[in-house]
Amino acid sequence: MVSFKDLGLVNTREMFAKAIDGGYAIPAFNFNNMEQLQAIIKASAETKSPVILQVSKGARNYANQTLLRYMAEGAVEYAKELGWENPQIVLHLDHGDSFELCKSCVDFGFSSVMIDASSLPFEENIALTKKVVEYAHQFDVTVEAELGVLAGVEDEVQSEVSHYTKPEEVIEFSTRTGCDSLAISIGTSHGAYKFRPEQCTRDPKTGRLVPPPLAFDVLDAIMEKLPGFPIVLHGSSSVPQEYVDMINKYGGKLPDAVGIPEEQLRKAAKSAVCKINIDSDSRLAFTAAVRKVFAEKPAEFDPRKYCGPARDEMERLYKHKIIEVLGSDGKA
Ligand code: G3H
Ligand code: 13P
Ligand code: ZN
Repeated sequence: MVSFKDLGLVNTREMFAKAIDGGYAIPAFNFNNMEQLQAIIKASAETKSPVILQVSKGARNYANQTLLRYMAEGAVEYAKELGWENPQIVLHLDHGDSFELCKSCVDFGFSSVMIDASSLPFEENIALTKKVVEYAHQFDVTVEAELGVLAGVEDEVQSEVSHYTKPEEVIEFSTRTGCDSLAISIGTSHGAYKFRPEQCTRDPKTGRLVPPPLAFDVLDAIMEKLPGFPIVLHGSSSVPQEYVDMINKYGGKLPDAVGIPEEQLRKAAKSAVCKINIDSDSRLAFTAAVRKVFAEKPAEFDPRKYCGPARDEMERLYKHKIIEVLGSDGKA
C-alpha cells in the first residue's frame, strides 16, 4: 500500500472547493507518454495552475500503469525543479470500470479515482460507486462518479436518444454513494467528432461547422438540486480548427472534426463545473506538429526532432486552456 501523500500528490477535495468558490475549473489532462507529461507539468508550473493528471485504461495498456505512476511521482519533483514550490497535482484514474481496478489504483498511490458505472442501471451504478467510495475514503482518496451517458460517434446509429443526466436523480445518487464529484452528461462527448454535421449549422463566412449549444438548462437544474457540489465535464476538447487544418494540410484526413466551443467551456468553468477533461486536443496538437516536421523535413529521423516540437505545441495548448478557458492560472 502506497499513500499518495507520500508521493507529494493531493486529492481533489480542497482543490474543487476552491475552484467552485473562485469560479474557475481545474484542468484534467490525460497523459500516455513522457512528452505529454512534460508539457502538462511545464504549463501548470509556469502558470501556477493546479492540475489533474489522468490515466485511462487505454493509457495503462499503452504505457504500463506502474511506469505511469512513477512518472507522476517524478512529475512532482520536476514541478519543484521548475520553481513550483507547492505543486498541486492529482493523479487520477480516468473511467475506471471495476472495483478491482479502482482498488489497485488506490493501493498504488493514486489520489483520485473515477468509477464509471454510468452504463449500468441506476441501482447498480449506486451499488458499485458506493463500494468504491467506501474503500477509497479509508485512504482519503477522492472518487468521481458518473450519471448519464455521454453521446459518442457510436450513437450515430441510434438517432436522437437523449442520455443527459436526469436532475431528479442526482440528490439520491450523491447521497447514497457518498461520491466526491459527479460527471454529468449535457451534450459533450469523447473524441474529435463530437457532433455530426447534420446536428450543426455552417458558418456562411468560413464554411465551418457550428455545433449546437450544450444543455446549460440541465446543468442549472443539477446545480439547483446539489448546490456547491463538484461537477465534472468529460469530452471537453474544443478540436481547434488550426490543428485540424494543419493535419489535413500535411497529409492527414480529419473531415468535419468538431468540438465544444471555448466560450461554452468558459461559461461552464465559472459554475460548479470544477473539473474539465481534455485529451483529444493534445492528441491533435501532437499530431499536427509531427506531421508538419515530417512534411517539411522528410530526411529527419531523430524522434526528438519531431517529438520536441509536438511537446512544445502541447505546452502552448495547455497554457491556453489554463489561462484563456478554465481560469485556473495563479490558483496554486
Ligand atoms: O475518456 C477518454 C480519454 O480520452 C482516454 O482515451 O482510452 O483512448 O486513452 P483512451
Ligand atoms: P476529449 O475527447 O473531449 O478530450 O475528452 C477527454 C475525456 O473526457 C477524458 O476522460
Ligand atoms: Zn472521459
